[in-house]
Amino acid sequence: MTVLLLYSGHDGQTKSIMSVIAKEISTHTPCEMFDLNAFHNIKLNNYRAVLIGAAIRYGHFNKKLYQFADSHFQQLNMMPSAFFSVTLTARKPEKRTPETNLYTRKFLTKTKWKPQLCEVFAGALHYPRYTFFDKYMIKLIMKITGGETDTSKDIEYTDWQQVTRFAHHFTKNMLKQ
Ligand SMILES: Cc1cc2nc3c(=O)[nH]c(=O)nc-3n(C[C@H](O)[C@H](O)[C@H](O)COP(=O)(O)O)c2cc1C
Repeated sequence: MTVLLLYSGHDGQTKSIMSVIAKEISTHTPCEMFDLNAFHNIKLNNYRAVLIGAAIRYGHFNKKLYQFADSHFQQLNMMPSAFFSVTLTARKPEKRTPETNLYTRKFLTKTKWKPQLCEVFAGALHYPRYTFFDKYMIKLIMKITGGETDTSKDIEYTDWQQVTRFAHHFTKNMLKQ
């Protein structure tokens, strides 16, 4: 049976992270990857395991994540399921665990879905791609939190070795049943 991979992002980093994970998993077992934000009809029965990855935007995950977790938590809790978040706060290593990353901790506390595996990845900062408003807001947040404020910069904070390690861990631990 196939592994279901759902990503929820806006600017492509969560999709890129999920694609790297998909490549690793697919060397062991078939997997299907979909955009959670555009995904409607899902039959979890058709899958042996589920991985969901979501990015933070202005303090929140996309509402589709909350809706999906609300609608499917019972079934998700009965099958191997895992979650990862993508945030800029996680550019600081001490904010890169489910316990120390506030957004992730809050989500996991609130949702009835209890993923067996959880990871936090640092995202990317793409000033040149942002709208005027987003650029201004992100620059402000970066100024407050001691981050990059040069709006000509494109910076990827994602630790790709961490992504690969997580993919191995997922494959080893979630697909053994
Ligand atoms: C408009 C906007 C708002 C964001 N808000 C937050 C935030 O509140 N906290 C945070 O840690 N990261 C925030 N980020 C950073 C994103 O989580 C990060 O850029 C991530 O890589 C986005 O993933 P995506 O490319 O899949 O959308 C924000 C990014 C943008 C563009």
